[in-house]
Amino acid sequence: MTDQSALKSVYPASAEFVAKAHVDAAGYEARYAASVKDPVAFWGEEAQRIDWIKPFTRVKDTSFAPGNISIKWFEDGLLNVSANCIDRHMLTRANQTAIIWEPDDPKEPAQHITYAQLLENTCRVANVLKAHGVTKGDRVVLYMPMIPEAAYAMLACTRIGAIHSVVFGGFSPDALANRVNDCEAKLVITADWAPRGGKKTGLKDNTDKAMLHCSDKVKVLVTKRTGDQTSWVEGRDFDLNAEMAAARPYCPYVEVGAEDPMFILYTSGSTGKPKGVVHTTGGYLVFASLTHQVTFDYHDGDVFWCTADVGWVTGHSYIVYGPLANGATTVMFEGVPTWPDAGRFWEVCAKHKVNQFYTAPTAIRSLMGLGAEWVEKHDLSSLKLLGSVGEPINPEAWSWYNTHVGKGKCPIVDTFWQTETGGHIITPIPGAIPQKPGSATKPFFGIRPEVLDAATGQVQTGTEAEGVLCLSDSWPGQMRTLWGDHQRFEEAYFSQYKGYYFTGDGCRRDADGYYWITGRVDDVINVSGHRMGTAEVESALVAHDAVAEAAVVGYPHDIKGQGIYAYVTLMKGVEPSDDLRKKLEAWVRHEIGPIAKPDLIQWAPGLPKTRSGKIMRRILRKIAENDFGSLGDTSTLADPAVVDDLIANRMNRG
Ligand code: WTA
Repeated sequence: MTDQSALKSVYPASAEFVAKAHVDAAGYEARYAASVKDPVAFWGEEAQRIDWIKPFTRVKDTSFAPGNISIKWFEDGLLNVSANCIDRHMLTRANQTAIIWEPDDPKEPAQHITYAQLLENTCRVANVLKAHGVTKGDRVVLYMPMIPEAAYAMLACTRIGAIHSVVFGGFSPDALANRVNDCEAKLVITADWAPRGGKKTGLKDNTDKAMLHCSDKVKVLVTKRTGDQTSWVEGRDFDLNAEMAAARPYCPYVEVGAEDPMFILYTSGSTGKPKGVVHTTGGYLVFASLTHQVTFDYHDGDVFWCTADVGWVTGHSYIVYGPLANGATTVMFEGVPTWPDAGRFWEVCAKHKVNQFYTAPTAIRSLMGLGAEWVEKHDLSSLKLLGSVGEPINPEAWSWYNTHVGKGKCPIVDTFWQTETGGHIITPIPGAIPQKPGSATKPFFGIRPEVLDAATGQVQTGTEAEGVLCLSDSWPGQMRTLWGDHQRFEEAYFSQYKGYYFTGDGCRRDADGYYWITGRVDDVINVSGHRMGTAEVESALVAHDAVAEAAVVGYPHDIKGQGIYAYVTLMKGVEPSDDLRKKLEAWVRHEIGPIAKPDLIQWAPGLPKTRSGKIMRRILRKIAENDFGSLGDTSTLADPAVVDDLIANRMNRG
């Protein structure tokens, strides 16, 4: 049993940790105060941590004013991301390991890729891209396993000023095609197969299917991972490994404007179509690099491991760009936490003497359920700090992580941020801010959080407050726009509360000024730390012939945080059955990917709607949560009897 009273305590870092930390309490207070008082001076100085080909003269030019959302940082500066992540380390770190690659199968050898090798491989990929006509500003989609080639390809794009968009390897061919088409990519880089957890996914096969829905001008570069056979379309498919071997080992980097787009990352929003979040070059790199160093208290020589996939923003900022900009050694792991056994994470930590370990609460919860003996088997004495990301970490998981993995001596940084924010925005800075389990604690430098009343938009001025989390000023890592749709950008983030960036999250601020994120207040759910738009799952369901209507909500799930609960109304004449339920699950996997598969499907003869036809999701959420005693006002429903049927046949009775 967890001692609940202990979880209410405050946990400062040890004196030993604080003594070595980059930032202590006084340092945090001073730098935070300076960062909000004079952002121009603060960021002008912090931006010196990266190399500029041409220094900027303007630091900040940002506006959250309605009708004029415009965000520019270091605008007239020129730089190159790959030069910052690789070339500038060559004098001092050419033979230092940049990437430790740990394959899915522990019997396969790990690879240690030095900065010198990273330079050569990145240059070779850059030359291959150039040979295929990719130039500055072109979009390149990456659909890859967690292999070093993914990092080479990302860095190669930045070297020539191309814009990458990484699509998570777990997404379906349809999802891939939509992204390729939305950003009008010239080229897709993929691999033959992606091994994961002892199984393999046919990435090339999926790409072939996706390409049926894309322009026939799109080329496909294929890297070999397993070497198993795939089909080949002459003239469209090219062998990346062969072309890299034949390419020149050096490629000069180009000058890129600080505000030129660096990458697009598609993420779920409250409407059906995923949003193409655009990050630009200078501000993003400054912010990723600073947060990586400060939040994780990264020191030269440390081995840093973020367990995310490069298909998510966490992988962008904290596997590739933040660590490499800082000259770090970063671990890239192809596998899963539970294969070949539930000790894999800890085996890898011991094997590579990991110093900072960063993962998601969902992984902790699933490992916790399998028993602490899997942790105890491995020597975790190298660990200095632990991190958490993706959702609030529940006290039980926090306590287990702290006791069994951190042995009570590692600070746990609960980092709150989003695809849109580029890097951590609310996070304990470990040597400075004592932790409270479940709280992301305090704002990072330059971040100005405000708690607004959700309904009135009133700024809550007291220290203790509850409402929605908004930010009142820009920071360098902020997204700049949605690809091809600046109006949607303004509507999605700036229209609800005028003059503020709205995170979409609810939050509470306690008497010590600590922030507690309470979860999304929009129609986005958080499944195993992955964002999923309920509207996306709904549109997938209604695309099936048997389905007339669907409504999807989240419900509490022990391991995943939230599970996906779908209410489905079938077409007239279609009979519900377990077989159909399985078919619909498979359909959603096929349409979006395995992460979107509904956990529970309830057959709904009707959905609760207002007389104007709007689905009352509040009621559906309550029923899915098995909390139907307090449904609130149902008098505006067109047909209140619908609700009784839904309650009687609810799927979650836990
Ligand atoms: C949630 C992942 C509480 C939140 C980096 C946010 C969190 C969404 C935390 C962004 C945390 C992320 N505590 N909630 N430490 N970190 N979230 O874009 O709801 O995949 O809005 O970025 O995850 O998810 P995204």
